[in-house]
Amino acid sequence: MSIRKKSIETLRSARWFAKDDLRSFGHRSRVMQMGYAPEEFVGRPVIAILNTWSDMNSCHMHFKQRVEDVKRGVLQAGGFPVELPAISLSESAVKPTTMLYRNLLAIEAEELIRSHPVDGVVLMGGCDKTTPGLLMGATSAGVPAIFVPAGPMLRGNWQGHVLGSGSDAWKFWDERRAGKISKEEWVGIEGGIARSHGTCMTMGTASTMTAIAETIGMTLPGASSIPAPDASHVRMSSESGRRIVEMVWEDLTPARIQTRESFENAIAVAMAMGCSTNAIIHVISMARRAGCDIGLEDFDKMSRHVPVIANIRPSGETYLMEDFYYAGGLPALMNRMRAKLHLDALTVNGRTIGENIDGAEVYNDDVIRPMDNPLYEEGALAVLKGNIAPDGCVIKPSACEKRFFKHSGRALVFDDYPSMKEAVERDDLDVTADDFLILRNAGPLGGPGMPEWGMLPIPKKLVKQGVRDMLRMSDARMSGTSYGACILHVAPESYIGGPLALVRTGDIITIDIPARSINMEVSEEELARRKAEWKQPPKRFERGYGWMFSQHIKQANEGCDFDFLETGFGAGVGEPDI
Ligand code: FES
Ligand code: MG
Repeated sequence: MSIRKKSIETLRSARWFAKDDLRSFGHRSRVMQMGYAPEEFVGRPVIAILNTWSDMNSCHMHFKQRVEDVKRGVLQAGGFPVELPAISLSESAVKPTTMLYRNLLAIEAEELIRSHPVDGVVLMGGCDKTTPGLLMGATSAGVPAIFVPAGPMLRGNWQGHVLGSGSDAWKFWDERRAGKISKEEWVGIEGGIARSHGTCMTMGTASTMTAIAETIGMTLPGASSIPAPDASHVRMSSESGRRIVEMVWEDLTPARIQTRESFENAIAVAMAMGCSTNAIIHVISMARRAGCDIGLEDFDKMSRHVPVIANIRPSGETYLMEDFYYAGGLPALMNRMRAKLHLDALTVNGRTIGENIDGAEVYNDDVIRPMDNPLYEEGALAVLKGNIAPDGCVIKPSACEKRFFKHSGRALVFDDYPSMKEAVERDDLDVTADDFLILRNAGPLGGPGMPEWGMLPIPKKLVKQGVRDMLRMSDARMSGTSYGACILHVAPESYIGGPLALVRTGDIITIDIPARSINMEVSEEELARRKAEWKQPPKRFERGYGWMFSQHIKQANEGCDFDFLETGFGAGVGEPDI
């Protein structure tokens, strides 16, 4: 039974529309200019729909229609829907990386809500950074919010092969380089790998982050697993519209939903799904916006006792998000691992996560494995520390060869991406399969924006010898659809003089994943000498948004938020006072 906490008089939008003064006259007359009668919007919850649709975002192509379904739901429940477009951040179109703009979307979301007569908000996102960006902004704005995930696209298909986003593009590209796939066949793959609207259908960043949005309680139960073209997705959209109006009356704000427990649930679920490493950065920043101090240790701790049970590519070998949905989707997965969850965490539907997943069944034990027959016993990811990464770095042990768990090897260091790319093609490159390939100046400031360069290509010379994996290390991120022994997110980054900047080709590096350590075998005196000689690379930006980014971006282990956006940076912004 919902408890009504808000009255017509205490609606936030009443400050715009309810008064008998000249300013309110202006607000009302301009809504009437759009053809609405006062009884359609005065005294009703005004629901902003932040829509990240654009003609450049194939993943959100259906949002143009879906927003109408959300509006239908809002109207049915007695609210007044207003669509407010927000920056779209297409992962497949934006250069150098959407990560440069996640915080821009977060700022836009927060200020769109704050500056307009908004009582509640529907967040429409899904393509990678749009999910954390929208949630971070809405959390800081503080009004009731519900997230509508774009949903995964259908499985890819080409000549009878099932194609998975990202992962299969690289696989077939190698075949094409080897001359085994013709130009015509390649065009066939291009047309088949993304054959409906919706987000990448592997367990990449999009599927990871929308599942996290659901786990922390910010979507309707089951919402994140529904494929974008499915009619259930339309129904979920209109139901979200109906529900947000009720949430306004109940004053069910993100602060009541997003607690430390709900973020711990998110981390547990991310591990069980074999999540994208990008989740670490986003969950830390989202949690901090909600006032919860989540750090790298929380991920490492959870990965030691939550097995990977979602058999979805790239951690799994066969299945994709469409299969996950048919197997019962996220509620079924969560029900399987309910012993690892805080079941009393509240969600947008006003019920607890435990109530929402009660009775959710798994229909295919190979797609969602039982806890006692997991894909990997533990180790969706591990956090390593040492003299090369004092503030930590991450690796996905489940995705790399066992021989790298304890290993020493020579460093082969590259200062930038173009020189690395050129070198790995050379037949005379001095490299063996036991070396560490190192790329620096690819972090939040050095990249800039921490591009997804972390899966460094295996040198061609070694590929010819049959080498398919080797240790690679950088302060970059990698795509959620990548794999291999890649050590990522080294903090502090090299561009600001982190110890990664001091490594030299030929130094010995030792990794010990069970001990969670990574060190370069170089004396402290020698490192101090190198540090004294070190010079920061040239500035990336002298003006514009990039300049602001450079002034305020935080390091990977802190979630890459802007310092001035973090909770507690200064006094709360409050409401516009006129
Ligand atoms: Fe949009 Fe992958 S490109 S989710
Ligand atoms: Mg991606």
